[in-house]
Amino acid sequence: MKDILPINGQFALPTLPYEGLGTVISTETLGFHHGKHLKAYVDNLNKLLPGSGLEGLPLSEVIKKSEGGMFNNAGQVLNHAMYFEQFSNAPKAMSPRLMALLERDFGGVGAFKKEFEQKGATLFGSGWVWLSADTQGKLVITQQKNAENPVTLGLTPLLTFDVWEHAYYLDYQNRRADYLAALWQIVDWQVVESRL
Ligand SMILES: [Fe+2]
Repeated sequence: MKDILPINGQFALPTLPYEGLGTVISTETLGFHHGKHLKAYVDNLNKLLPGSGLEGLPLSEVIKKSEGGMFNNAGQVLNHAMYFEQFSNAPKAMSPRLMALLERDFGGVGAFKKEFEQKGATLFGSGWVWLSADTQGKLVITQQKNAENPVTLGLTPLLTFDVWEHAYYLDYQNRRADYLAALWQIVDWQVVESRL
């Protein structure tokens, strides 16, 4: 995983690597999600950092060492940075290596996607569904509430789908499962595998 470093003790709003994502995520949703929600998390985190003793640390360390508002905002900055970075209009396919790992740990790519979608659909309330690697290299799926990130569990996060309503409500209304199923069309597996 590529950590995010502060500049002069402050984190920058992560830039989007695209201007739109076709019909999977509308530009309206992107505008609110990135330009309003993520920007607010970055701004809130930057207000909390000075004098906290955590200024200057990489984002994953801020998450591991904080709680309350600092943890929530820092977590949401890392979670959204990873979420937006992993999508593309011209996504790269999965390598045979990752296919083999998904076969080994979930019984196949299709079985992995089914379990990932199911765990995203059944997470109660707001949160994230994650694919991570544990310290032995085994791939695992976790459901995590609110701003939680697998780094607090000692895992290396690889892929995440945001299941907060702000991620899908404008495009899919209450149909969270449809949103989750559609996201596979835009996942850039080269980005996901670069986090391994
Ligand atoms: Fe979000």
